[in-house]
Amino acid sequence: MITKEKLVINGGRKLKGEVSIHGSKNAAVALVAAAILVEGKVIIENLPKITDVCILLDTLEDLGGVVEHLGHDTVSIDCTEINKSKADKNDLNKMRASYYLVGALLGRTHSAEVIFPGGCNFGARPIDQHKKGFEALGATFAAVGGYITAKARRLIGTQIYFDKISVGATINVMLAATLADGMTVLENAAREPHIVDLANFLNMMGADIKGAGTSVIRIRGVEKLSGGKTYSVVPDMIEAGTFMIAAALTRGTITVRNIIPEHMESLTVKLNETGAVSIEEGDDYITVKGNRRPKAVLVQTLEYPGFPTDLQPQMVSLLAIAEGQGTVIEGIFDNRFQYVDQLLQMGAQIRVEGRTALITGVSKLIGSPIRAMDLRAAASLILSGLAAEGTTMVYNLEYLDRGYEGFVQKLAELGADIKRIEE
Ligand code: EPU
Repeated sequence: MITKEKLVINGGRKLKGEVSIHGSKNAAVALVAAAILVEGKVIIENLPKITDVCILLDTLEDLGGVVEHLGHDTVSIDCTEINKSKADKNDLNKMRASYYLVGALLGRTHSAEVIFPGGCNFGARPIDQHKKGFEALGATFAAVGGYITAKARRLIGTQIYFDKISVGATINVMLAATLADGMTVLENAAREPHIVDLANFLNMMGADIKGAGTSVIRIRGVEKLSGGKTYSVVPDMIEAGTFMIAAALTRGTITVRNIIPEHMESLTVKLNETGAVSIEEGDDYITVKGNRRPKAVLVQTLEYPGFPTDLQPQMVSLLAIAEGQGTVIEGIFDNRFQYVDQLLQMGAQIRVEGRTALITGVSKLIGSPIRAMDLRAAASLILSGLAAEGTTMVYNLEYLDRGYEGFVQKLAELGADIKRIEE
């Protein structure tokens, strides 16, 4: 029997200490799918132990791959004997990144049938740019009957212009193009660190990809990718950012370790703008010290290197207790403010108009029972509970487990009064 759990948080403690950041969720899900393209064993280190990654690893086994857990955050994957192109097991339909199996299977076996992806509900999440890319490479593509199906006799490199900057489409088409014939040029590509990480991984296995991290990526198709190598996943900029905001919210001092500070630039600048913190940066760490109540600021989420949409809910939590009226404009998704209702229950004053949240800061939030409804909303509600007066109970923790490894334990080690108990 699956028991549901909830969090009980007694707010008001300043978080203090050091926290080490795991590998990036959004890179990890791409790398695990990319292992399908590789003949031979690849070892992936710094792999976060989160539900989305576990589901993908189970799926690789179902497809004929061999997965061995070599340590807490290290796996060996051998997809030499992949013998199926239909992926529909193990809760795959609950996650978004399952669609990377389409690009990877199409690239490796020229045929993919993958159950339709789920993931967080932020309004419509079309996949037209994935379709455009696969079709341009010469594949047929259909998304009907609950499955995405893509097939090709050959994949042939070509020039593809994305009409919309999309992390998912950029990664998916990169996966399909890696073993295609000839040169594929992706224009208006996404530039997130996870795109660079995927390119580094594929290149280490023998791919020829240039330009990742810029908006033009050139992929010269190679005949095969070979294993026998070890790759370490890039640090998770969203997990890091979540702890940086936690320091500001609780007026504590947190050193966030094992990160790439450059990836945090848009957040560092915004936190400085609030006047609430002092920030020290080293080669692979950032220390955030919360000194005073933040001043309200304007935040607009954008594609990287803009302010990440995956830190939008956490930032709204911070602005909920700021001085003055803050504005947060969601530049990526149509409907990513659904969690605001829960913050209202904690006494926040927020009005959402379309893609804009107008936040009138209150001096304190009040602990309440609240429900997470997506991954980053879960994190932001927990942060609000840590800063609130009294006891907050957070339900629907399955969302949190999809993307943050050991989050509750890490907070407890920083001094939070937080417990995970059976409902
Ligand atoms: N879009 C289209 N057509 C497409 C693809 C996307 O119109 O074919 C639109 C989307 O509707 C959205 C925008 O383009 O408005 C950007 O979507 P994108 O494809 O970049 O997002 P995604 O690949 O679905 C990934 C992350 C999300 C993160 C976004 C933006 C993974 C598995 N997911 O989603 O991560 O919010 O990029 O950075 O990498 C999270 O980690 O909590 C999370 C939601």
